[in-house]
Amino acid sequence: MKKILVTGGAGYIGSHTVVELAQAGFEPVIIDDFRNSKESVLSGLRDILGRDVPFHRIDCGDAEALRGVLRAEGNIEGVIHFAAFKAVGESVQKPLAYFRNNVGSLLTLLEVLPEFGVENLVFSSSCTVYGNPDALPVRETTPTKPASSPYGRTKQMCEDIIHDAAGAPGNRLHSILLRYFNPIGAHASARIGELPLGVPNNLIPFVTQTAAGLREKLTIFGNDYDTPDGTNIRDYIHVVDLAKAHIAAVQRLLDRTAPEVVETFNVGTGHGNTVLEVVQTFERATGQKVNYSIGPRRPGDVPAIYADATKVAEVLGFKTETSLADSLASAWKWQLSLAK
Ligand code: UFG
Repeated sequence: MKKILVTGGAGYIGSHTVVELAQAGFEPVIIDDFRNSKESVLSGLRDILGRDVPFHRIDCGDAEALRGVLRAEGNIEGVIHFAAFKAVGESVQKPLAYFRNNVGSLLTLLEVLPEFGVENLVFSSSCTVYGNPDALPVRETTPTKPASSPYGRTKQMCEDIIHDAAGAPGNRLHSILLRYFNPIGAHASARIGELPLGVPNNLIPFVTQTAAGLREKLTIFGNDYDTPDGTNIRDYIHVVDLAKAHIAAVQRLLDRTAPEVVETFNVGTGHGNTVLEVVQTFERATGQKVNYSIGPRRPGDVPAIYADATKVAEVLGFKTETSLADSLASAWKWQLSLAK
């Protein structure tokens, strides 16, 4: 079984990817320091997979600790790098922490991996690198615009760093950058899902917590945008679908079929939905009412963004399978499981 190191493997997208890796016949090895996740994720993974997943509690930015893991594990064939901070608003408050953690951990990885002959890296990027695009849907070739937050800038910088590192003479790094759109939902077992610490920033956990009575009401951030109902448009992708894109990316790196040392893919459904459509679809799919009101715009929100998912379909053979309604139903099932 080929060993794949998953940094941030106890996180939201990381944990779902660990499941898909294991079920595709790889051996995932998790590193995580639980700074934005919980140890209970490991027991959720054990319930789903019927065995423990190898795990090391380290900070991915700690080079010596990382060397220790790579030495102890041996034969790591590739790395999927999720470990990063991801809250847009928090990044405005604590920009240096975001640069230190997100850029720093990538630099550490890129310095340490060649020492152990590890040449394959899948990187968690984000549609945030496009900024506020001029035309929709966005293609991988759509020029990036200034990011609206330090968080977004860390993703742009990390992409640039990977290009430079892979392009340096003698470098053996091969990388795939996956630009995620908005991941939502949870594993069908409801044993793993999104675990926001404190008040959720993202729409779906706020919706499910409101429906569950944990929050009084959802505020929809603006209904005066130039969209059909005035609310923002995003491309919501089920997290298990998104996880599967990583398996295709790892396989492509291992097969060495890519014509370029760094490839970039949008990973979205190719469809946009407004915030109001999401709320209404949630209500229909679950039979739950969501108390909401319209509030002011949230600074930094782009009016609309969704993926052109042609390249990922043609090159990685990846297509999303889960509808918005089913994705939202899985988020609700997860929310209910948390109350137990
Ligand atoms: N929204 C609300 N009320 C809320 C929360 C969100 O109306 O309480 C709206 C937002 O205004 C936005 C949509 O729901 O229109 C989605 O918001 P999220 O915060 O869930 O997601 P974003 O699109 O803002 O952010 C996501 C990722 C980021 C990434 C960004 C790039 O979470 O990591 O996409 O656009 F940077």
